Amino acid sequence: MISPANSSYDEQSAFQDGLVNGDRASSQITQKSVDQTADFTQMAVKIRDLNYYFGQGDLRKQVLYDINLDLPQGQIVIMTGPSGSGKTTLLTLIGALRHLQEGSLQVLGQELVGLSKSTLVEVRRNIGFIFQAHNLFESLTASQNVEMAIELLDDWREKRKRVHAMLAELGLADRVSYKPKSLSGGQKQRVAIARALVNQPALILADEPTAALDKKSGRDVVTLMQKLAQEHGRTILMVTHDNRILDVADRIVTLVDGRLESDDSLNRYVETHDPKALDQRMFMM
Ligand SMILES: Nc1ncnc2c1ncn2[C@@H]1O[C@H](COP(=O)(O)OP(=O)(O)O)[C@@H](O)[C@H]1O
Ligand SMILES: [Mg+2]
Repeated sequence: MISPANSSYDEQSAFQDGLVNGDRASSQITQKSVDQTADFTQMAVKIRDLNYYFGQGDLRKQVLYDINLDLPQGQIVIMTGPSGSGKTTLLTLIGALRHLQEGSLQVLGQELVGLSKSTLVEVRRNIGFIFQAHNLFESLTASQNVEMAIELLDDWREKRKRVHAMLAELGLADRVSYKPKSLSGGQKQRVAIARALVNQPALILADEPTAALDKKSGRDVVTLMQKLAQEHGRTILMVTHDNRILDVADRIVTLVDGRLESDDSLNRYVETHDPKALDQRMFMM
């Protein structure tokens, strides 16, 4: 069920390197430069003929084949498929955490092919990442963990106010001063979500955000995502194996052995899959 350790290490370290530790200095021009290049096609993500390989020489191994995918603004798309099929790799490519090798990938109107490292960093600032391993800093409180992510704001009072409002919206008003070790799994995941959302990103990429959560916390998390998409027009791409949350999706895409095998509306997905293979708890709302 859970991604191989190597890929999860990879995404975490990329996250730490790119988003948490590095590149903070170039933040001043971020939001604007990306918006100005947007082509207003209403597509948050546009992928054409994308191939991706790991390794070099004899060890070179293709993991994504001929991917074509559009994510219109405001949609919630669930990506599912067996472990090792390339879901995390695709997510990290869309998130500008990896360099594109072949094909075209537009994110929020910006073509990622051939972008310099610093421009990729700018693109990333418009994306909220939620990973299963929440990457919280153990020595910081919930509030400080979220405050760290806020860019372009020097006024710490204002910063704290915004963070507390965000945490309150996620049901954590009474947990702002707690450190991760005193929070439950669901609460930690919600802090990570607050951190991903506090800059109001147009695109949210979530990799198995409910995998470590119980039924109720998992449902709370996806209900929140649904609200963000519906009320704020955020685009959400969520990788999950969790059949219990499929009902929030506008669309479900399936990746098998590095290829997009199906792309269905929720209704069609249900019609075309053997009911016995679908988890009975799927529609538990
Ligand atoms: N950093 C890496 N180096 C080499 N191979 C990798 C790396 N990360 C993932 N892979 C391989 O790429 C394939 C797709 O992995 P991944 O995108 O993590 O799949 P999923 O998220 O669907 O489980 C797997 O065969 C995996 O072993
Ligand atoms: Mg994965």
